[in-house]
Amino acid sequence: MVEKCKVNRSECIKPNDPRFKELKAYIDSVRDQNGINIMVLQEAQRLFGYVPLEVQKWISLELDTVSVGELYGITTFYSQFNLKKQGKHKISVCLGTACYVKGAQAILEALQQHLDVEVGGISEDGMFTLEATRCLGCCSLAPVMMIDNDVYAKLYDTKEIPEILDKYYLESELDEELENVFESEVDA
Ligand code: FES
Repeated sequence: MVEKCKVNRSECIKPNDPRFKELKAYIDSVRDQNGINIMVLQEAQRLFGYVPLEVQKWISLELDTVSVGELYGITTFYSQFNLKKQGKHKISVCLGTACYVKGAQAILEALQQHLDVEVGGISEDGMFTLEATRCLGCCSLAPVMMIDNDVYAKLYDTKEIPEILDKYYLESELDEELENVFESEVDA
């Protein structure tokens, strides 16, 4: 049984979500292996994009060898795991000292305004998660922002932000178009 989701209904993973079936098949294929807890959590994250408590509870019941507390300990210890739903792209604005004194706060505020999202939140369209981070290790390029693995250095002018974000919207549109073309060719 899947635990009732206590967050915004639209963000809940429903008990009859077909991805649980896929996860069950994966568990059955690795059931006797060492390190199964992490492997299953990784697979859950691949399938759902994040591993909220309701999914951890489902895994705990399915494996029957690990408590929810242990799974929660793993997901909070390793930064690779997300407990909250993520946007398609992750924006990280560095608020380390070097970036902060060179105007990183203005970058963060411009993003909040442009995307209408709070720090730690996801934009309405699901495209971006906005986060503030500590030093990203490239202080000579301050102020710095990263989107996924792309580094945007010396970002003094916040007017550049809409243009930067547009690149990701454009990529997403192209991906969708390619997917549609691929699907229509498969259906033909
Ligand atoms: S303080 Fe921002 S990269 Fe170091």
